[in-house]
Amino acid sequence: MPLTTIEAIRSDDVAGLTYCRALEAGQILLFPRAPFELPAGDRAFLLTRRQAGAGYHKNIAYRPQRDRVTGVVKQAADDADRLRHILRDYSRRVAGFAATLLPTYARAWRLDFASFRPQEEAGRSLPPHARNDRLHVDAFPTRPSGGDRILRVFTNINPTADRVWLTGDNFERLAERFALSSGLLPAVQRPSLARRLRRLARSLGLPVTVRSPYDSFMMGFHHFLKGNLEYQQAAQTERLAFPPASTWLVFTDMVSHAVLSGQYALEQTFIVPRESLALPEKAPIAILERIAGAKLA
Ligand SMILES: [Fe+2]
Repeated sequence: MPLTTIEAIRSDDVAGLTYCRALEAGQILLFPRAPFELPAGDRAFLLTRRQAGAGYHKNIAYRPQRDRVTGVVKQAADDADRLRHILRDYSRRVAGFAATLLPTYARAWRLDFASFRPQEEAGRSLPPHARNDRLHVDAFPTRPSGGDRILRVFTNINPTADRVWLTGDNFERLAERFALSSGLLPAVQRPSLARRLRRLARSLGLPVTVRSPYDSFMMGFHHFLKGNLEYQQAAQTERLAFPPASTWLVFTDMVSHAVLSGQYALEQTFIVPRESLALPEKAPIAILERIAGAKLA
């Protein structure tokens, strides 16, 4: 069972290390009640939001560094302001809670985007690579991590319905099975002309995203898993129901997951540097570098 339920937080470095180890070993830490403040008025407001172009924007996103919201339908200036304030407060509170829980990560993590997910996930129509209901591990197309880890904190703010996930094998098993046989790992180890051109463009100061071989692999692997229907149908999975008001933390670059149903979730992402990990040998990049026999970032 990949779930560890936490009723009361112990906040010191020793307890924090225990939580880090559990997360890095592929556990999901579950809090039955949100362990940070989420005012009733803010929740009620969020339940009335609608997102723009649901096929293009998967979620409503909040960028803490720029204090900016994207992906929401056009709304009155007052409402736009209120939404920004609510997501800013949420982002700060969840970061405060997570820093208490995981102090060794908090010393070096990068606060990434937060999101609000107002769409019902069951039966949602999205392109194959964007579908949330297929097992996958996370990778970000626009924010390559260079081998650092994707830690996400989710809260189900639906007043009545669970958010339902499937979880499958963790990254280590998936990589052992598919990293070579999919052809993805050998491909990213060959320096391509496209990658050389991107590096050249960046050295000239042009705004291009340069992915390390690791990031190219992870992006390709995300698509490969979602597109592999044989794997999707045969995978050993576990169904997890996250009840209203619960919060859960997980390294989504490691634990394969799919969302079957649920509407109205908040989420905050943290990028955790490799150097902060308690079990660095379990990081996807370490696993892949062992298989490849070479550095990938
Ligand atoms: Fe995901």
